[in-house]
Amino acid sequence: MNSKKYTVTSALPYANGPLHIGHIAGAYLPADIYVRYRKLKKDDVLFVCGSDEHGAAITLRAKKEGKTPKEIVDYYHDLNKSTFKEFGIDFDIYHRTSEELHHQTAQEFFSVLESKNIFTKKTSEQFYDQEHQQFLADRYISGQCPKCSFDGAYGDQCEKCGSALSPNELIDPKSTLSGNTPVLKSTSHWYLPMQDHEVWLKDWIENGILDGELHHDPKQWRSQVNGQCMSWINSGLRERAMTRDLDWGVQVPVEGADGKVLYVWLDAPIGYISATKEWASQNNKDWKDYWKKDANLIHFIGKDNIVFHAIIFPIILKAHGDFALPVNVPANEFLNLEGQKLSTSRNWAIWLHEYLKDFEGQQDALRYVLCATAPESKDTDFTWKDFQTRNNSELVGILGNFINRVVVLTNKYYDGLVPGQNALQDYDKEVLSYLDCCGDKVGDCIENYKMRDGLSEVMNIARLGNKYLADTEPWKLKKTDEKRTETILNIALQISASLSVYLEPFLPFAAKQLSQMLNVNFTSWDESKSLDKDHKINSSALLFAKIEDDKMEEQLNKLK
Ligand code: 2FM
Ligand code: ZN
Repeated sequence: MNSKKYTVTSALPYANGPLHIGHIAGAYLPADIYVRYRKLKKDDVLFVCGSDEHGAAITLRAKKEGKTPKEIVDYYHDLNKSTFKEFGIDFDIYHRTSEELHHQTAQEFFSVLESKNIFTKKTSEQFYDQEHQQFLADRYISGQCPKCSFDGAYGDQCEKCGSALSPNELIDPKSTLSGNTPVLKSTSHWYLPMQDHEVWLKDWIENGILDGELHHDPKQWRSQVNGQCMSWINSGLRERAMTRDLDWGVQVPVEGADGKVLYVWLDAPIGYISATKEWASQNNKDWKDYWKKDANLIHFIGKDNIVFHAIIFPIILKAHGDFALPVNVPANEFLNLEGQKLSTSRNWAIWLHEYLKDFEGQQDALRYVLCATAPESKDTDFTWKDFQTRNNSELVGILGNFINRVVVLTNKYYDGLVPGQNALQDYDKEVLSYLDCCGDKVGDCIENYKMRDGLSEVMNIARLGNKYLADTEPWKLKKTDEKRTETILNIALQISASLSVYLEPFLPFAAKQLSQMLNVNFTSWDESKSLDKDHKINSSALLFAKIEDDKMEEQLNKLK
């Protein structure tokens, strides 16, 4: 195993609702593809995630439903954990921020930063709902936008004109808890003066330089990530409160700070570290190896979390000391659904746990489409029509069809025994030399976070296989040219064997089924994947199922 460590994280989803396709396309599927590939490359890679079980959204939801926050997070933690698993998102650990170990870890982090005087403590006036006796998170204050006069702007942002706001800028603010006008009440909090970190941050993001040395290749970062960070930095970094008044979360570990918890910035990403600790203790490893300075830390996220992971968390890690900073933050843009923004509140979404029920055994169809249309550089759109077309014409029509023909013919002509290779023609040699280099091509795409391109390279192998069979027509030669038929099927089987490995990061269920059909168990990306003469394969099974129009109708109606 290679000694260099890869620590891969996916944003911890809030445990206050189920997962939809937007989550998966943004932060989980690309990370899973990356990790599966690294594992096949025999790299030492750890994939951590878990439930983010804190925050005002959770307490609010609990209040509305007459439940405790714990009841809410227990339910969604279990649901999301099993949904990820069924969908083949293969975390090494799926932890929870409500675990004692996490509370300790986050509190220790806070204490170290506090002892290093990283924070400033300030008292200010904040909005307070007298009826609910609680300070109001920015999201729970709404009013008129001072920029565009829209009536439903939130305390942190106007959804209409996109302006970033603070609650005291709102005209006629109201508490969304009670509908009352909130009062101002003074409270003290710990702030992170981000402006103190501007100089090194700029050099790190723009040039990849950290402490005078090259830390990562800045050209490998996506332009939207660099762009969003630089626009934040250039518009002037400010201090931000790192604590909140709330009775649910990680307590601020300071005497007299009752009723104050760590804000998400000092809570959720520390969850990556506490998850690593838990995994390490279960697996007899040292968690520090995965967070030391030379570890490759990679954060997969959606674009709403860019500043959080490329500015705020790095400041925290560096200020603490002895921690790796991310070598990349491959953030995806947003996935829309049938031309509209996904929305939990309007129920405009495809919920993953429902997909798993409605399309039993068809996880790979969704993985395929979400990867083929991944919003890697700009927002993209998921439509059921496109899903159906890609499934039927690409998965069934190209990949499934190719494999089926090869396996059926081998069983029919040779009782399932791999025939030998006889004299090779130029065409055969071309195909074989293409096979020799396609592993590197696919790998190169994945290593550069271009999952879409990687998948399309894999599909090109299947396309080539189909074309090779269509051009050489072994079924017409069987009676007249046995030797040639053997060679053609042998080569088609070698193509299939390569596919069983190169498909695995993208379509792990199909890859497994294909391996079973071919009766192989390749475990490494780079090993020889050739099938020896007389190797016995199994009978054919369909890798993908066609999706009919009525099924699509049903899904469209469900949306409406
Ligand atoms: O935005 C979110 O979904 C939060 N739960 C935070 C995710 S990022 C984190 F895990 F660092
Ligand atoms: Zn506005």
